[in-house]
Amino acid sequence: MEEEQKISPISSAKDSSLGVIMFDSLLSHFSGNNQPENLDPALLKQMRQEFNNSEFFGEDMRNLWLMLERIQIKANLDPGKGKNRIDLLNLACGYCEEGSVLPAFWGRHGLSVKQFSVDLRDAEIDKAKRRYAATESIFKSAMNPKIVNSGESAQGVEFIADNAVNLSKYGQIPSKFDVIFIRHQNLWHDRPTWQKIYEYALNSLSNTGILIITSYFDREHLLALELLKLLGGNMVVSERNSASRQLDFPGKSIDRHVAAITNKSIPI
Ligand SMILES: C[S@@+](CC[C@H](N)C(=O)[O-])C[C@H]1O[C@@H](n2cnc3c(N)ncnc32)[C@H](O)[C@@H]1O
Repeated sequence: MEEEQKISPISSAKDSSLGVIMFDSLLSHFSGNNQPENLDPALLKQMRQEFNNSEFFGEDMRNLWLMLERIQIKANLDPGKGKNRIDLLNLACGYCEEGSVLPAFWGRHGLSVKQFSVDLRDAEIDKAKRRYAATESIFKSAMNPKIVNSGESAQGVEFIADNAVNLSKYGQIPSKFDVIFIRHQNLWHDRPTWQKIYEYALNSLSNTGILIITSYFDREHLLALELLKLLGGNMVVSERNSASRQLDFPGKSIDRHVAAITNKSIPI
């Protein structure tokens, strides 16, 4: 009885259903939100099991998923409310381990998601593209080709190697986003650059838009929140992620802190 009372409405990292939820959301993402109908049930069952037990989307991605679930509930987020598509921007994405996880997460209840992922470094974007393509080919291998999203639909993922603040110059990129994600922001390293990135992010939020940042260490997270507030950000929630994986450097861990921020000048 006591055990039952401790169970949170949010899945836990030990929850064996988490891998299945992630798998099904990824499958839906890669099928362009068309519920795949003609899948071989035996193959699907085997893939679900393999995915659940695999390290391909290991600890960090599962923790990221859980962290986003918590943040969404705590901050009562409903990005893209009233729309049929979520416009998602992953800024300074590096090699973008989360390249397919983010659109699968935000699209898990059936909304289509268009994601742009940007980093300054060509080599990182190249790796990001290859990682995403590898994941895509695993999922598409299970599908009937007729239902596979050809990339022409509203849904999809684009990777761009450029300075984040140049994005407004691209005609084909939305000017407003429902979710902007910055994983492991790097304010400590180069404050002037990150101030510009934060300004761009806050100014690019849609009416129901949310900026989500994560940080490797405590001090950098506090400084980031302070600066974001100065720039017109409204901190909706910030939490220390207790499941965060410790790195070799003392005091640093993966997605150690997460915060959700809105733009104060946009009435809710
Ligand atoms: C600490 S890394 C985080 C990378 C990735 N988000 C992650 O969690 O692994 C910071 C990233 O910011 C990128 N970056 C720095 N300045 C940038 C800018 N002006 N525009 C786009 N990306 C930038 C770097 O290339 C680097 O990949």
